[in-house]
Amino acid sequence: MIKIAVLVSGSGSNLQALIDANLSGKIVGVISNKADAYALQRAKNANIPTAIIEHKQYPNREAFDDAMHQQLSDWNVDLVILAGFMRILSAQFVNAWEGKMVNIHPSLLPNYKGMHTHQRVLNTGDLLHGCTVHYVTAELDAGQALTQGVLKVAQHDNVASLAKRIHVLEHLIYPQAVEWICNGTIQHLENGQVLYKGQALEKPIQFCQL
Ligand code: GRF
Repeated sequence: MIKIAVLVSGSGSNLQALIDANLSGKIVGVISNKADAYALQRAKNANIPTAIIEHKQYPNREAFDDAMHQQLSDWNVDLVILAGFMRILSAQFVNAWEGKMVNIHPSLLPNYKGMHTHQRVLNTGDLLHGCTVHYVTAELDAGQALTQGVLKVAQHDNVASLAKRIHVLEHLIYPQAVEWICNGTIQHLENGQVLYKGQALEKPIQFCQL
């Protein structure tokens, strides 16, 4: 059974969706870089071990990443899930977990990497918006996309309403992508190629909520 660690910084609604999904993998631990993250409470409620690794306590990013690496090794983790984890990880850390670490990002990647995605979508006047589960690589929000949730931007949408609607989609597509990794439907090969049901995954599997 695949052992999963979830990295969080905030409310942890995606963590909750993963807990509720009864994955065929096991969430063996949750790491937060913030002591007051509500996600920690969610983990405790589900009897999942937690670790607080505060970046402020470490002299630099590498030392912080080493501490996280150590905790993940102690838990014997196979798969790392970033769920609202608000720290940029060192290239060394990311490379060590290549093909074994995924993230969810609130945009239809490759559009709108980085922050403030909802505002940027509204500024541009896009008709579609969404979220993407992708493998994590050293380049920010640039690893291969696995699943996407797509929605139609309504005329009355604002940043708050989009954030709310995107969250609903995230809670659908993240557990699905993780389950596919756990049960081998999605595979990441040594050469970096990603397979879905044994075939090269050319583009992300899309779920729509129009
Ligand atoms: C999500 O919107 C996700 O796209 C982004 O961080 C947010 C985390 O929300 N990476 P939550 O803590 O899971 O509620």
